[in-house]
Amino acid sequence: MSQKKSPKDSCVETSYIVLPSHTNALGGVFGGTVMSWIDMVGAICAQRHSNRICVTASIDALHFIHPLELGDTATLFARIVYTGRTSMMISVDVYAENPIRRIKAQCVKAYLTFVALGEDRKPTPVPELLLTTESEKQAYADAKERRKALLAQSRS
Ligand SMILES: CC(C)(COP(=O)(O)OP(=O)(O)OC[C@H]1O[C@@H](n2cnc3c(N)ncnc32)[C@H](O)[C@@H]1OP(=O)(O)O)[C@@H](O)C(=O)NCCC(=O)NCCS
Repeated sequence: MSQKKSPKDSCVETSYIVLPSHTNALGGVFGGTVMSWIDMVGAICAQRHSNRICVTASIDALHFIHPLELGDTATLFARIVYTGRTSMMISVDVYAENPIRRIKAQCVKAYLTFVALGEDRKPTPVPELLLTTESEKQAYADAKERRKALLAQSRS
């Protein structure tokens, strides 16, 4: 496979304002809306790393930790934490910021697996990760364990 690539080369940061069209009956954000934002930033991250069209193979974990309210700014950070042969695990963190009170809180933590497809629409190899910092190495080790557990679960 081609040269190794740093996670820094594919990370994604994007923000949205939570609008009335994004909310549920309680005035908080509708979970499915945030899930689609997460899927989108995860796919952009995977496609930047692989330079391929990528599909979501699984949402491995998704935890809503804190509510996002109408008018909040939602900021999403996606970074690649692990590569297999053709798959990539992407971590996505979502933060809420109230524009007036300036309070920031982490709202969601998610892990997703994407698979890169070749022109034949079959899974195709992706570049390995070039890990330089301790936090990148730790995130890779954690993701490797997470993937092992997921594969064992999917076989049972
Ligand atoms: C994901 C998909 C491409 C895998 O195809 P496949 O023929 O099963 O391919 P393989 O068995 O060769 O697996 C390819 C890789 O995907 C991984 N994979 C397959 N299914 C997976 C799942 N459910 N969760 C996590 N990883 C998965 C494999 O472990 C393998 O990883 P590796 O190459 O890094 O070791 C195929 O199942 C698919 O097209 N699914 C639908 C995707 C989709 O429509 N997503 C929503 C819209 S984007």
